[in-house]
Amino acid sequence: MPDYRYLLSEREIPKFWYNVAPDLPAPMPPPLHPGTLQPAGPKDLEAIFPYALIEQEMTAAQNIPIPEPVLDVLRLWRPTPLHRAMRLEKALGTPAKIFFKNESVSPAGSHKPNTAIAQAYYNKAAGVKRLTTETGAGQWGSALALACNVFGMECMVYMVKCSFYQKPHRRTMMECWGAKCVPSPSDLTQAGRKVLAEDPETPGSLGIAISEAVEDAALHQDTNYSLGSVLNHVLLHQTVIGEEAIAQMKLAGASPDIIIGCCGGGSNFAGLAFPFVPEKAAGKNLRLIAVEPAACPTMTKGIYAYDFGDKSGMTPLLKMDTLGHDFVPPGIHAGGLRYHGMAPLVSLLHREGVIEAVSYPQLKCFEAALTFARAEGLIVAPETSHAICCVVDEALKAKEEGKEKTILFNLSGHGHFDMAAYEKYFAGELSDYEYPEAKIREALAHLPKAS
Ligand SMILES: Cc1ncc(COP(=O)(O)O)c(C=O)c1O
Repeated sequence: MPDYRYLLSEREIPKFWYNVAPDLPAPMPPPLHPGTLQPAGPKDLEAIFPYALIEQEMTAAQNIPIPEPVLDVLRLWRPTPLHRAMRLEKALGTPAKIFFKNESVSPAGSHKPNTAIAQAYYNKAAGVKRLTTETGAGQWGSALALACNVFGMECMVYMVKCSFYQKPHRRTMMECWGAKCVPSPSDLTQAGRKVLAEDPETPGSLGIAISEAVEDAALHQDTNYSLGSVLNHVLLHQTVIGEEAIAQMKLAGASPDIIIGCCGGGSNFAGLAFPFVPEKAAGKNLRLIAVEPAACPTMTKGIYAYDFGDKSGMTPLLKMDTLGHDFVPPGIHAGGLRYHGMAPLVSLLHREGVIEAVSYPQLKCFEAALTFARAEGLIVAPETSHAICCVVDEALKAKEEGKEKTILFNLSGHGHFDMAAYEKYFAGELSDYEYPEAKIREALAHLPKAS
Protein backbone atom coordinates (compact mmCIF):
# COMPACT_ATOMS: atom_id res chain seq x y z
CA MET A 1 0.00 0.00 0.00
CA PRO A 2 1.52 3.41 -0.95
CA ASP A 3 1.90 6.06 1.79
CA TYR A 4 -0.64 8.84 2.24
CA ARG A 5 2.03 11.41 3.08
CA TYR A 6 5.62 12.05 2.02
CA LEU A 7 7.54 14.08 4.60
CA LEU A 8 10.88 15.87 4.65
CA SER A 9 12.73 16.69 7.88
CA GLU A 10 13.33 20.28 9.04
CA ARG A 11 16.96 19.92 7.93
CA GLU A 12 15.78 19.27 4.36
CA ILE A 13 14.07 22.65 4.01
CA PRO A 14 15.31 24.32 0.76
CA LYS A 15 18.22 26.72 1.39
CA PHE A 16 17.81 28.65 -1.89
CA TRP A 17 14.87 30.17 -3.74
CA TYR A 18 14.61 29.24 -7.43
CA ASN A 19 14.48 32.21 -9.80
CA VAL A 20 12.77 31.38 -13.10
CA ALA A 21 14.10 34.56 -14.83
CA PRO A 22 17.16 32.90 -16.44
CA ASP A 23 14.93 30.08 -17.77
CA LEU A 24 12.39 32.32 -19.51
CA PRO A 25 11.87 31.63 -23.24
CA ALA A 26 11.65 35.39 -24.01
CA PRO A 27 12.95 38.56 -22.34
CA MET A 28 10.82 40.12 -19.59
CA PRO A 29 9.52 43.58 -20.55
CA PRO A 30 10.69 46.01 -17.82
CA PRO A 31 8.29 47.75 -15.41
CA LEU A 32 7.57 51.36 -16.44
CA HIS A 33 7.51 54.48 -14.27
CA PRO A 34 3.83 55.56 -13.88
CA GLY A 35 4.64 59.21 -14.66
CA THR A 36 7.22 59.06 -17.45
CA LEU A 37 6.26 55.63 -18.90
CA GLN A 38 10.03 54.99 -19.17
CA PRO A 39 11.62 51.80 -17.74
CA ALA A 40 11.59 52.03 -13.92
CA GLY A 41 14.92 51.51 -12.17
CA PRO A 42 15.72 50.49 -8.59
CA LYS A 43 15.56 54.17 -7.48
CA ASP A 44 11.88 54.38 -8.51
CA LEU A 45 10.96 51.56 -6.14
CA GLU A 46 12.96 52.77 -3.12
CA ALA A 47 10.08 54.85 -1.70
CA ILE A 48 8.12 51.73 -0.79
CA PHE A 49 10.47 48.67 -0.91
CA PRO A 50 13.79 47.86 0.82
CA TYR A 51 16.83 47.48 -1.42
CA ALA A 52 17.21 43.72 -0.87
CA LEU A 53 13.73 43.08 -2.30
CA ILE A 54 14.29 45.47 -5.23
CA GLU A 55 17.45 43.51 -6.01
CA GLN A 56 15.49 40.24 -5.95
CA GLU A 57 12.87 41.84 -8.20
CA MET A 58 15.50 42.50 -10.86
CA THR A 59 18.10 39.76 -10.45
CA ALA A 60 19.06 37.30 -13.18
CA ALA A 61 20.73 34.92 -10.70
CA GLN A 62 19.21 31.44 -10.65
CA ASN A 63 19.51 30.53 -6.97
CA ILE A 64 19.00 33.09 -4.23
CA PRO A 65 20.14 32.08 -0.72
CA ILE A 66 17.41 32.16 1.94
CA PRO A 67 18.71 34.08 4.99
CA GLU A 68 19.10 31.97 8.16
CA PRO A 69 16.61 34.06 10.25
CA VAL A 70 13.96 33.49 7.53
CA LEU A 71 14.67 29.75 7.47
CA ASP A 72 14.42 29.69 11.25
CA VAL A 73 10.82 30.99 11.09
CA LEU A 74 9.82 28.90 8.04
CA ARG A 75 10.90 25.82 10.00
CA LEU A 76 7.89 26.37 12.30
CA TRP A 77 5.75 24.63 9.64
CA ARG A 78 8.03 23.75 6.70
CA PRO A 79 8.69 21.48 4.90
CA THR A 80 4.95 21.03 4.34
CA PRO A 81 3.62 17.52 3.67
CA LEU A 82 3.05 16.10 0.21
CA HIS A 83 -0.14 14.01 0.30
CA ARG A 84 -1.35 11.33 -2.08
CA ALA A 85 -5.13 11.82 -2.39
CA MET A 86 -5.88 8.12 -2.69
CA ARG A 87 -9.37 8.44 -1.27
CA LEU A 88 -10.24 11.09 -3.86
CA GLU A 89 -8.80 8.85 -6.59
CA LYS A 90 -11.07 6.07 -5.34
CA ALA A 91 -14.13 8.32 -5.08
CA LEU A 92 -13.60 9.43 -8.68
CA GLY A 93 -12.76 5.91 -9.86
CA THR A 94 -9.81 7.33 -11.76
CA PRO A 95 -6.57 5.57 -12.74
CA ALA A 96 -4.83 8.95 -12.20
CA LYS A 97 -2.53 9.39 -9.21
CA ILE A 98 -3.32 12.63 -7.42
CA PHE A 99 -0.76 14.36 -5.16
CA PHE A 100 -0.97 17.69 -3.38
CA LYS A 101 1.25 19.99 -1.34
CA ASN A 102 -0.55 21.03 1.82
CA GLU A 103 0.24 24.72 2.35
CA SER A 104 -2.73 25.08 4.72
CA VAL A 105 -0.57 23.89 7.65
CA SER A 106 1.10 27.30 8.06
CA PRO A 107 0.01 29.33 11.14
CA ALA A 108 -2.08 31.67 8.96
CA GLY A 109 -3.58 28.76 7.02
CA SER A 110 -2.15 29.29 3.52
CA HIS A 111 0.97 29.61 1.38
CA LYS A 112 1.14 33.37 2.01
CA PRO A 113 3.50 33.34 5.05
CA ASN A 114 6.29 31.96 2.81
CA THR A 115 6.77 35.46 1.40
CA ALA A 116 5.39 37.45 4.35
CA ILE A 117 8.20 36.19 6.60
CA ALA A 118 10.87 37.02 4.02
CA GLN A 119 9.43 40.48 3.28
CA ALA A 120 9.09 41.43 6.96
CA TYR A 121 12.65 40.23 7.59
CA TYR A 122 14.20 42.36 4.80
CA ASN A 123 12.15 45.42 5.80
CA LYS A 124 13.13 45.06 9.45
CA ALA A 125 16.79 44.71 8.44
CA ALA A 126 16.44 47.99 6.48
CA GLY A 127 15.15 49.81 9.59
CA VAL A 128 11.48 49.96 8.56
CA LYS A 129 9.07 50.05 11.52
CA ARG A 130 5.65 49.61 9.90
CA LEU A 131 4.25 47.72 6.89
CA THR A 132 1.02 48.40 5.01
CA THR A 133 -0.75 46.03 2.68
CA GLU A 134 -4.00 45.05 0.99
CA THR A 135 -5.79 41.76 1.44
CA GLY A 136 -8.60 40.05 -0.45
CA ALA A 137 -9.81 36.98 1.38
CA GLY A 138 -7.73 37.91 4.43
CA GLN A 139 -5.18 35.14 3.96
CA TRP A 140 -2.43 37.55 2.92
CA GLY A 141 -3.31 40.11 5.60
CA SER A 142 -3.12 37.42 8.28
CA ALA A 143 0.20 36.19 6.90
CA LEU A 144 1.73 39.67 7.04
CA ALA A 145 0.26 40.25 10.52
CA LEU A 146 1.97 37.03 11.65
CA ALA A 147 5.27 38.06 10.04
CA CYS A 148 5.24 41.60 11.49
CA ASN A 149 4.57 40.13 14.91
CA VAL A 150 7.54 37.75 14.55
CA PHE A 151 9.89 40.65 13.68
CA GLY A 152 8.37 43.24 16.06
CA MET A 153 6.85 45.59 13.45
CA GLU A 154 3.51 47.38 13.12
CA CYS A 155 1.12 46.16 10.44
CA MET A 156 -1.77 48.00 8.74
CA VAL A 157 -4.09 45.99 6.48
CA TYR A 158 -6.65 47.37 4.01
CA MET A 159 -9.09 44.49 3.49
CA VAL A 160 -11.40 44.42 0.44
CA LYS A 161 -14.82 45.46 1.77
CA CYS A 162 -16.91 42.48 0.58
CA SER A 163 -14.42 40.01 2.13
CA PHE A 164 -14.17 42.07 5.34
CA TYR A 165 -17.89 41.47 5.96
CA GLN A 166 -17.89 37.88 4.58
CA LYS A 167 -15.03 36.87 6.92
CA PRO A 168 -15.05 38.98 10.11
CA HIS A 169 -12.86 36.48 11.98
CA ARG A 170 -9.96 37.03 9.60
CA ARG A 171 -9.75 40.56 11.02
CA THR A 172 -9.78 39.15 14.57
CA MET A 173 -6.99 36.78 13.58
CA MET A 174 -4.89 39.73 12.35
CA GLU A 175 -5.61 41.54 15.61
CA CYS A 176 -4.42 38.50 17.58
CA TRP A 177 -1.02 39.10 15.97
CA GLY A 178 -1.23 42.83 16.78
CA ALA A 179 -2.16 44.20 13.32
CA LYS A 180 -4.81 46.80 12.45
CA CYS A 181 -7.33 45.91 9.72
CA VAL A 182 -9.90 48.24 8.08
CA PRO A 183 -12.40 47.68 5.23
CA SER A 184 -11.34 49.12 1.87
CA PRO A 185 -12.22 51.55 0.40
CA SER A 186 -11.77 53.46 3.68
CA ASP A 187 -11.90 57.16 4.48
CA LEU A 188 -8.31 57.03 5.73
CA THR A 189 -6.77 57.67 2.31
CA GLN A 190 -7.40 59.97 -0.61
CA ALA A 191 -7.69 56.94 -2.93
CA GLY A 192 -10.35 55.37 -0.69
CA ARG A 193 -12.33 58.59 -0.27
CA LYS A 194 -12.41 59.13 -4.04
CA VAL A 195 -13.87 55.66 -4.71
CA LEU A 196 -16.42 56.05 -1.90
CA ALA A 197 -17.55 59.38 -3.31
CA GLU A 198 -18.11 57.78 -6.75
CA ASP A 199 -19.72 54.56 -5.48
CA PRO A 200 -20.50 54.29 -1.75
CA GLU A 201 -21.83 50.72 -2.24
CA THR A 202 -18.72 49.36 -3.99
CA PRO A 203 -17.69 45.83 -2.86
CA GLY A 204 -14.08 47.03 -3.12
CA SER A 205 -11.33 45.33 -5.06
CA LEU A 206 -7.70 44.38 -4.62
CA GLY A 207 -6.76 47.20 -7.01
CA ILE A 208 -8.45 49.77 -4.74
CA ALA A 209 -6.97 48.30 -1.54
CA ILE A 210 -3.48 48.37 -3.10
CA SER A 211 -3.91 52.09 -3.90
CA GLU A 212 -4.77 52.77 -0.25
CA ALA A 213 -1.86 50.73 1.14
CA VAL A 214 0.66 52.30 -1.29
CA GLU A 215 -0.57 55.83 -0.48
CA ASP A 216 -0.29 55.14 3.27
CA ALA A 217 3.29 53.85 2.85
CA ALA A 218 4.34 56.73 0.60
CA LEU A 219 3.07 59.30 3.13
CA HIS A 220 4.79 57.80 6.21
CA GLN A 221 8.56 57.94 6.53
CA ASP A 222 8.88 54.84 8.74
CA THR A 223 6.49 52.75 6.61
CA ASN A 224 6.94 50.46 3.62
CA TYR A 225 4.40 48.68 1.46
CA SER A 226 4.29 44.93 1.12
CA LEU A 227 2.55 43.02 -1.70
CA GLY A 228 1.24 39.47 -1.29
CA SER A 229 1.52 38.33 -4.91
CA VAL A 230 2.23 39.44 -8.52
CA LEU A 231 5.80 40.79 -8.14
CA ASN A 232 8.87 38.72 -9.08
CA HIS A 233 10.27 38.64 -5.53
CA VAL A 234 6.97 37.37 -4.12
CA LEU A 235 6.83 34.51 -6.63
CA LEU A 236 10.48 33.79 -5.85
CA HIS A 237 9.76 33.34 -2.12
CA GLN A 238 7.01 30.83 -2.91
CA THR A 239 9.31 28.49 -4.86
CA VAL A 240 10.14 26.57 -1.67
CA ILE A 241 6.81 24.80 -2.36
CA GLY A 242 7.88 23.39 -5.73
CA GLU A 243 11.43 22.67 -4.56
CA GLU A 244 10.10 20.56 -1.71
CA ALA A 245 7.58 18.92 -4.05
CA ILE A 246 10.37 17.80 -6.39
CA ALA A 247 12.14 16.02 -3.50
CA GLN A 248 8.88 14.56 -2.17
CA MET A 249 7.68 13.28 -5.56
CA LYS A 250 11.01 11.42 -5.75
CA LEU A 251 10.26 9.87 -2.34
CA ALA A 252 6.87 8.80 -3.72
CA GLY A 253 8.58 7.31 -6.79
CA ALA A 254 6.39 9.43 -9.08
CA SER A 255 6.73 12.32 -11.48
CA PRO A 256 3.91 14.71 -12.38
CA ASP A 257 2.37 14.87 -15.87
CA ILE A 258 0.08 17.75 -14.86
CA ILE A 259 0.67 20.51 -12.28
CA ILE A 260 -2.30 22.62 -11.19
CA GLY A 261 -2.66 25.75 -9.05
CA CYS A 262 -5.31 28.42 -8.61
CA CYS A 263 -4.30 31.90 -9.67
CA GLY A 264 -5.10 35.24 -8.04
CA GLY A 265 -1.96 37.25 -8.62
CA GLY A 266 -0.07 34.07 -9.52
CA SER A 267 2.27 33.41 -6.57
CA ASN A 268 0.74 30.17 -5.32
CA PHE A 269 0.67 28.62 -8.79
CA ALA A 270 4.20 29.88 -9.55
CA GLY A 271 5.52 28.63 -6.21
CA LEU A 272 4.59 25.07 -7.10
CA ALA A 273 5.04 25.16 -10.88
CA PHE A 274 8.16 27.30 -11.54
CA PRO A 275 10.74 24.87 -10.11
CA PHE A 276 9.43 22.33 -12.67
CA VAL A 277 9.97 24.73 -15.63
CA PRO A 278 13.55 23.49 -16.32
CA GLU A 279 12.21 19.90 -16.63
CA LYS A 280 9.61 21.06 -19.12
CA ALA A 281 12.17 23.16 -21.00
CA ALA A 282 14.37 20.04 -21.22
CA GLY A 283 11.60 18.30 -23.14
CA LYS A 284 9.46 16.58 -20.50
CA ASN A 285 5.81 16.27 -21.47
CA LEU A 286 4.45 18.27 -18.56
CA ARG A 287 1.34 20.46 -18.47
CA LEU A 288 1.30 23.44 -16.11
CA ILE A 289 -2.30 24.63 -15.60
CA ALA A 290 -3.25 27.93 -13.93
CA VAL A 291 -6.87 28.11 -12.78
CA GLU A 292 -8.85 31.31 -12.37
CA PRO A 293 -12.48 32.23 -11.63
CA ALA A 294 -14.86 32.77 -14.56
CA ALA A 295 -15.92 36.02 -12.82
CA CYS A 296 -12.37 37.42 -13.01
CA PRO A 297 -10.87 35.75 -16.11
CA THR A 298 -7.56 37.60 -16.29
CA MET A 299 -5.65 35.09 -18.41
CA THR A 300 -8.49 33.47 -20.33
CA LYS A 301 -10.27 36.70 -21.35
CA GLY A 302 -7.83 39.55 -20.62
CA ILE A 303 -5.17 41.03 -22.85
CA TYR A 304 -1.37 41.12 -22.51
CA ALA A 305 -0.55 44.79 -22.05
CA TYR A 306 1.11 47.34 -19.77
CA ASP A 307 -1.22 48.24 -16.92
CA PHE A 308 -1.15 49.64 -13.41
CA GLY A 309 -1.12 47.24 -10.47
CA ASP A 310 -3.66 49.35 -8.60
CA LYS A 311 -6.87 51.26 -9.24
CA SER A 312 -5.46 54.79 -8.89
CA GLY A 313 -2.41 54.39 -11.11
CA MET A 314 0.22 54.88 -8.38
CA THR A 315 2.24 51.70 -8.98
CA PRO A 316 4.71 51.15 -11.82
CA LEU A 317 3.15 49.74 -14.99
CA LEU A 318 3.68 46.02 -15.48
CA LYS A 319 3.36 44.07 -18.73
CA MET A 320 0.82 41.45 -17.79
CA ASP A 321 -2.43 39.71 -18.59
CA THR A 322 -5.01 42.22 -17.42
CA LEU A 323 -8.71 43.02 -17.38
CA GLY A 324 -7.99 46.73 -16.84
CA HIS A 325 -6.96 48.33 -13.54
CA ASP A 326 -10.38 49.78 -12.83
CA PHE A 327 -12.26 46.51 -13.37
CA VAL A 328 -14.12 45.66 -10.14
CA PRO A 329 -14.87 41.92 -10.21
CA PRO A 330 -18.16 40.52 -8.87
CA GLY A 331 -18.03 39.67 -5.13
CA ILE A 332 -17.32 35.94 -5.48
CA HIS A 333 -16.26 34.08 -2.35
CA ALA A 334 -12.78 33.37 -3.66
CA GLY A 335 -11.78 36.90 -2.63
CA GLY A 336 -8.09 36.15 -3.16
CA LEU A 337 -8.72 35.53 -6.87
CA ARG A 338 -10.42 38.90 -7.49
CA TYR A 339 -7.43 40.69 -9.02
CA HIS A 340 -7.52 42.44 -12.40
CA GLY A 341 -3.94 41.50 -13.36
CA MET A 342 -1.59 38.54 -13.31
CA ALA A 343 2.06 38.25 -12.28
CA PRO A 344 4.27 39.40 -15.20
CA LEU A 345 6.29 36.16 -14.96
CA VAL A 346 3.15 33.99 -15.12
CA SER A 347 1.72 36.18 -17.91
CA LEU A 348 4.88 35.88 -20.01
CA LEU A 349 5.00 32.09 -19.63
CA HIS A 350 1.31 31.97 -20.52
CA ARG A 351 1.85 34.05 -23.64
CA GLU A 352 4.82 31.87 -24.61
CA GLY A 353 2.70 28.71 -24.28
CA VAL A 354 4.69 27.25 -21.37
CA ILE A 355 1.62 27.31 -19.12
CA GLU A 356 -2.10 26.88 -19.85
CA ALA A 357 -4.96 28.80 -18.27
CA VAL A 358 -8.53 27.67 -17.58
CA SER A 359 -11.44 29.27 -15.71
CA TYR A 360 -14.35 27.86 -13.69
CA PRO A 361 -17.56 29.33 -12.23
CA GLN A 362 -17.85 29.23 -8.42
CA LEU A 363 -20.69 26.68 -8.03
CA LYS A 364 -18.75 23.95 -9.83
CA CYS A 365 -15.74 24.80 -7.63
CA PHE A 366 -17.75 24.44 -4.39
CA GLU A 367 -19.06 21.10 -5.67
CA ALA A 368 -15.48 19.90 -6.28
CA ALA A 369 -14.39 21.19 -2.84
CA LEU A 370 -17.12 19.09 -1.22
CA THR A 371 -16.16 15.98 -3.20
CA PHE A 372 -12.62 16.56 -1.90
CA ALA A 373 -13.72 17.23 1.71
CA ARG A 374 -15.83 14.09 1.77
CA ALA A 375 -13.03 11.95 0.35
CA GLU A 376 -9.94 13.46 2.01
CA GLY A 377 -11.39 15.21 5.08
CA LEU A 378 -9.84 18.60 4.32
CA ILE A 379 -12.11 21.63 3.84
CA VAL A 380 -10.34 24.04 1.51
CA ALA A 381 -10.53 27.78 0.89
CA PRO A 382 -12.80 28.88 -2.00
CA GLU A 383 -9.62 29.95 -3.88
CA THR A 384 -8.18 26.45 -3.60
CA SER A 385 -11.48 24.92 -4.75
CA HIS A 386 -10.68 26.27 -8.22
CA ALA A 387 -7.55 24.12 -8.41
CA ILE A 388 -9.48 21.10 -7.15
CA CYS A 389 -12.19 21.64 -9.76
CA CYS A 390 -9.54 21.37 -12.46
CA VAL A 391 -7.95 18.33 -10.75
CA VAL A 392 -11.33 16.56 -10.77
CA ASP A 393 -11.84 17.38 -14.46
CA GLU A 394 -8.37 16.12 -15.39
CA ALA A 395 -8.75 12.97 -13.26
CA LEU A 396 -12.11 12.19 -14.93
CA LYS A 397 -10.58 12.80 -18.35
CA ALA A 398 -7.80 10.32 -17.48
CA LYS A 399 -10.53 7.83 -16.51
CA GLU A 400 -12.36 8.34 -19.79
CA GLU A 401 -9.14 7.88 -21.74
CA GLY A 402 -7.95 5.02 -19.51
CA LYS A 403 -4.65 6.83 -18.88
CA GLU A 404 -2.58 6.66 -15.69
CA LYS A 405 -1.75 10.36 -15.38
CA THR A 406 0.05 11.77 -12.35
CA ILE A 407 -1.48 15.04 -11.17
CA LEU A 408 0.10 17.38 -8.61
CA PHE A 409 -1.71 20.40 -7.19
CA ASN A 410 -1.23 23.03 -4.54
CA LEU A 411 -3.65 23.02 -1.64
CA SER A 412 -3.06 26.72 -1.06
CA GLY A 413 -5.26 27.23 2.00
CA HIS A 414 -7.86 25.80 4.36
CA GLY A 415 -11.42 27.08 4.42
CA HIS A 416 -11.99 27.27 8.18
CA PHE A 417 -12.85 30.96 7.96
CA ASP A 418 -15.09 30.39 4.95
CA MET A 419 -17.99 28.60 6.59
CA ALA A 420 -20.37 31.43 5.64
CA ALA A 421 -19.59 30.70 1.98
CA TYR A 422 -20.19 26.95 2.42
CA GLU A 423 -23.37 27.73 4.37
CA LYS A 424 -24.65 29.88 1.50
CA TYR A 425 -23.78 27.11 -0.96
CA PHE A 426 -25.80 24.57 1.05
CA ALA A 427 -28.73 27.02 1.30
CA GLY A 428 -28.70 27.45 -2.49
CA GLU A 429 -27.92 31.15 -2.08
CA LEU A 430 -24.77 31.22 -4.19
CA SER A 431 -24.94 31.86 -7.89
CA ASP A 432 -22.55 31.95 -10.80
CA TYR A 433 -21.85 35.37 -12.22
CA GLU A 434 -22.22 36.06 -15.90
CA TYR A 435 -18.90 36.75 -17.60
CA PRO A 436 -18.80 40.54 -17.03
CA GLU A 437 -18.00 41.31 -20.66
CA ALA A 438 -19.29 44.90 -20.80
CA LYS A 439 -17.46 45.89 -17.58
CA ILE A 440 -14.24 44.34 -18.85
CA ARG A 441 -14.54 46.08 -22.22
CA GLU A 442 -15.03 49.40 -20.43
CA ALA A 443 -12.03 48.80 -18.11
CA LEU A 444 -9.80 47.77 -21.01
CA ALA A 445 -10.65 51.04 -22.76
CA HIS A 446 -8.91 52.83 -19.84
CA LEU A 447 -5.56 51.06 -20.17
CA PRO A 448 -2.59 53.44 -19.98
CA LYS A 449 -1.08 54.32 -23.35
CA ALA A 450 2.16 52.33 -23.22
CA SER A 451 2.94 49.54 -25.63
C1 LIG B 1 -6.03 30.28 -0.09
C2 LIG B 1 -5.56 31.09 -1.24
N1 LIG B 1 -5.17 30.47 -2.35
C3 LIG B 1 -4.76 31.14 -3.44
C4 LIG B 1 -4.74 32.51 -3.45
C5 LIG B 1 -4.29 33.19 -4.69
O1 LIG B 1 -3.05 33.68 -4.45
P1 LIG B 1 -1.98 34.11 -5.51
O2 LIG B 1 -2.02 35.57 -5.54
O3 LIG B 1 -0.79 33.57 -4.92
O4 LIG B 1 -2.34 33.56 -6.84
C6 LIG B 1 -5.11 33.22 -2.30
C7 LIG B 1 -5.04 34.69 -2.27
O5 LIG B 1 -5.39 35.35 -1.34
C8 LIG B 1 -5.54 32.49 -1.17
O6 LIG B 1 -5.92 33.12 -0.06
